[in-house]
Amino acid sequence: MTVTVTADMTMSLDGYIAGTDHSVANPAGNGADQIGGWIHAQSSWRERTGLGGGESDHDSEIMREWFEATGAVVMGRLMYDSGVEFWGDNPPFRAPVFVLTNRPGPTLVKEGGTTFTFVTDGIDSALDKAKAVSGGRNVDIAGGAHTVQQYLKARLVDELQLHVIPVLLGGGLRLFDNLGLGSHALEPIRVVDTPGATHLKYRILK
Ligand SMILES: NC(=O)c1ccc[n+]([C@@H]2O[C@H](COP(=O)([O-])OP(=O)(O)OC[C@H]3O[C@@H](n4cnc5c(N)ncnc54)[C@H](OP(=O)(O)O)[C@@H]3O)[C@@H](O)[C@H]2O)c1
Repeated sequence: MTVTVTADMTMSLDGYIAGTDHSVANPAGNGADQIGGWIHAQSSWRERTGLGGGESDHDSEIMREWFEATGAVVMGRLMYDSGVEFWGDNPPFRAPVFVLTNRPGPTLVKEGGTTFTFVTDGIDSALDKAKAVSGGRNVDIAGGAHTVQQYLKARLVDELQLHVIPVLLGGGLRLFDNLGLGSHALEPIRVVDTPGATHLKYRILK
């Protein structure tokens, strides 16, 4: 069964996915509170987090599409440490999540189908584990930057979606660093433009 590997990231127009000095205590980084704004207002996100309400527009449909298409998730330990409290007892993923880390720990089982499994033997192992339980749906490399960079560098990502928000941050955590030399050719698949974000979807040519 072929499983599509995706990466889906919100990015400022000048290329940052978080502001300066991001940390567990300051996940968005300085001056970058807008990063999650287009997501957290959407009905599709709010349904998944038990909040209800919210807006039902193109942004919401794009988020819903991600939830429906994704069967397993890979993320870095800093994204996990920054998000786990915010996501609560019933995290929005409702799928197995594999956390790349140097700090092993027991798998955490949350409500709604989300599990967090800590993987200490590298990116290939995490991806293989995720593919094995994705049910043929996509495996999404959810972030942060250092995690997505490793998969892009290894050319293991099939589709890249960027949600480019109309803000210039001037500094912070760049998405497209540490990729090494050599070009990556991309084929545009779709552009959806909303006031909140320009959603750019690409297939990465191998
Ligand atoms: N804008 C967006 O769409 C978006 C999406 C997701 C996250 N974010 C932001 O991204 C930030 C986090 O990104 P980040 O790049 O700093 O960190 P990250 O990629 O989330 O996590 C990096 C950490 O994961 C572990 N790790 C990664 N690769 C590993 C490997 N191959 N083997 C073993 N451990 C590995 C290491 O942690 P240990 O050594 O500590 O175990 C490493 O320090 C947060 O601020 C979050 O808010 C933004």
